[in-house]
Amino acid sequence: MTIANALTMARHLLTDRLATAKTVVDATAGNGHDTLFLAASSPPDALVWAFDLQQEALAATARRMDEHGLTGKCRLIRDCHSRIADHVAGQVDAAMFNLGYRPGGDHSFTTCAATTVAALGAVTRLLAPAGIVTIVAYPGHGAGEEENTAVADFLATLPQAAFTAAVWRMLNQRNRPPILYIIGKTGSETV
Ligand SMILES: C[S@@+](CC[C@H](N)C(=O)[O-])C[C@H]1O[C@@H](n2cnc3c(N)ncnc32)[C@H](O)[C@@H]1O
Repeated sequence: MTIANALTMARHLLTDRLATAKTVVDATAGNGHDTLFLAASSPPDALVWAFDLQQEALAATARRMDEHGLTGKCRLIRDCHSRIADHVAGQVDAAMFNLGYRPGGDHSFTTCAATTVAALGAVTRLLAPAGIVTIVAYPGHGAGEEENTAVADFLATLPQAAFTAAVWRMLNQRNRPPILYIIGKTGSETV
């Protein structure tokens, strides 16, 4: 296994759970790279629910899924990820948050602490046994630092009887590299 960066680590950690997943969430579709990874790594009957507020992001994701023949496995939702429960019925096996702004898009349009934490609360409540959530946070840009702190604070509140909450970070990179947070559902307690 090559340890390249937080996003690669997130994908490594998700891969096992995706192999048997039925319901998967991409909370930040962006350019669709993660949606494609989730769809390509899950069984043919799995559904990937991909959220974004920006029409350009959903269009880019739709194009990417189409190019790979995976359109049928994906539901594109133009809504805030804090409203995941309004769209996704049942339990979520795996979810991915790749925070910040869309590369190649409007850099002033970023995820923000309040809705990210609300979305994490919503997806955590829907998480299936042995479910996993990965969050890649970018403390190096404007609002990213506040959001990173809010994510860390939220994970620290999760009850130990039901969840593991962990962090992975590079220690020898300059310029505030991305940080990976991981939530795993281990027990039956709810939040
Ligand atoms: C870093 S990009 C995601 C990258 C993407 N996963 C990929 O593979 O290309 C972050 C995305 O989050 C979206 N976003 C920002 N706030 C959001 C919200 N409240 N709900 C859903 N998506 C949001 C942005 O529009 C942006 O496209």
